[in-house]
Formats: sequence, C-alpha cells, structure tokens
Amino acid sequence: MAKTDIRLNAQEEAKYMLQTESVLKYYKQYDAVITAVNRASIKVEPGEFVAIIGASGSGKSTFLHICAGLDTCNSGHVYIHGNDITEMKPDELSRFRGMRMGFVFQKHNLIPQFTALENILIPTMMCNKPDFSYQENLRRLVETLGLRERLHHLPSELSGGQQQRVAIARALINMPDILFADEPTGNLDRDNADEVLKLLLKLREEIGQTLIMVTHDLSIAEHADRIFKMDNGVLSLHRDYLKGGKKTTDY
Ligand SMILES: Nc1ncnc2c1ncn2[C@@H]1O[C@H](COP(=O)(O)OP(=O)(O)OP(=O)(O)O)[C@@H](O)[C@H]1O
Ligand SMILES: [Mg+2]
Repeated sequence: MAKTDIRLNAQEEAKYMLQTESVLKYYKQYDAVITAVNRASIKVEPGEFVAIIGASGSGKSTFLHICAGLDTCNSGHVYIHGNDITEMKPDELSRFRGMRMGFVFQKHNLIPQFTALENILIPTMMCNKPDFSYQENLRRLVETLGLRERLHHLPSELSGGQQQRVAIARALINMPDILFADEPTGNLDRDNADEVLKLLLKLREEIGQTLIMVTHDLSIAEHADRIFKMDNGVLSLHRDYLKGGKKTTDY
C-alpha cells in the first residue's frame, strides 16, 4: 500500500510534540495478514504525559517504535514537533532521534560488551556531545537510579531491574524533548517503580519533557494526563479513566 499523501499544514504540525496520522502497520505471513497497528491517530502537546495500556499483543510496542522512527509503517505519518519522520532518510532520522528523542525498550537492548556507564553514554557519543554538557545530568541519573556501585559492570552482571535502570539512564542522558518508554517499570519492584516515576515526572516539570509510556501498571498510568488503550491495533482514549473524579470524554 502506498504512503498517503495527506499533509497537514505546517502550523498545525508544529503545535504538537507528537502527532500521528492514521498509522497502519501490518505483517504478511503466508496467506494471513496481521494488522499490528490499525490507523492509529494521536495528538500530544509538549509536556504532556500520555500512558498507553492494552492486552499483550495488541500493538503497543509496534506503535511506540513507529512513533520513535525505530520501525516503519505501511501508511500514515508521524510528526515530531512538526517534522515528518516517516519521510526522513535513515541518516537524518538517526541524527534527529539522537538530539530530540529518548527510548526505553521493553527488553532493555543494552550492548552486552559495554559496561553500564558505556551503555548510558552511547547517545552522547552519537551526538558528539562534549563531556561537560552531560556530567551533571549523569551524576543525577546515577544517584536517582541507584547505579553508582554498578557503573563498571557488564549487563550480564546486573539484575533485570538494574539493567532496566541503565536503559532508563541511557534514554535520558541527552535530556530529550520526548521520551518513549515501553514498560519502563516492568522489571522493578514497587519502591523502584515509584522512584522511576518520580524521576520522570520531575524531568517533565524541569525541562517540559513529553512522555509517552506503555505500561500495564494502572497505579503508574493514573498519573498520566490522558490514558489511551490499544485494542487489537486500534488506539482510543480510555473512556473509563477517571480524572479528578470526572470521566474524560475528550479525544
Ligand atoms: N516481526 C513481526 N512479524 C509478524 N508479526 C509481528 C511481528 N512483530 C510483532 N508482530 C505481531 O504484532 C502484534 C503486536 O505486537 P506488539 O509487540 O506490538 O504487542 P504489545 O502490545 O507490545 O504486546 P506486549 O504487551 O506483550 O509487549 C502481535 O500480534 C505480534 O505477534
Ligand atoms: Mg510490547
């Protein structure tokens, strides 16, 4: 299927930190077609915290990967602050991602031969950032995420929760405008999950970071400005979500 030619006007595009237009992703397997994401559209304002919930296999990770330009879609558009990342060349996209976006993967994706510290610093090297520009942020992330004693260990020498905290530090080291986090608290106990949430909410307050988080943890999701639900590839506002005692009805 050809990519749609529908373009938004520039002003409308730039108003949102993230805007997706009818994103479609399917996989063909023999005669069967699996529609992982079925024309998903969302508009997220700068500084907003959006949570995405939904059953296993409903398309949450696929959608998040497409939003961050880590996967391609069959049709539709994804705009990050007005920039259509679905139209970018690979080099341009990877530079843009390094400067503007952070991603916490569901399965960590740490490089096994690199220590925790080297893994955390990968995004700074990709953007040629000078040491002084991230030292203060590194110190804070290492303290908040309780990684000081583990910085020189390889991922194989870390617990699942420690690996997850390293992956979170790596996603935040460049202070991205928008953070995509796929079950970032999935491997953490209650106390650590709450600490991570506190850090993300603080960053949001300090630098106005936009946060798009997939989570199955409703006690985390309820801190979001809006909760969306993915159901068989279809994304919609979670209508049962109560905010301030009122049912939300906006889309
Ligand atoms: N490379 C692939 N080839 C074929 N099907 C795929 C591929 N990747 C994902 N899928 C299918 O797409 C659907 C969505 O998968 P996805 O990983 O996005 O789900 P999810 O909501 O993140 O699930 P979970 O909560 O278990 O992480 C699933 O049915 C999955 O089997
Ligand atoms: Mg997933």
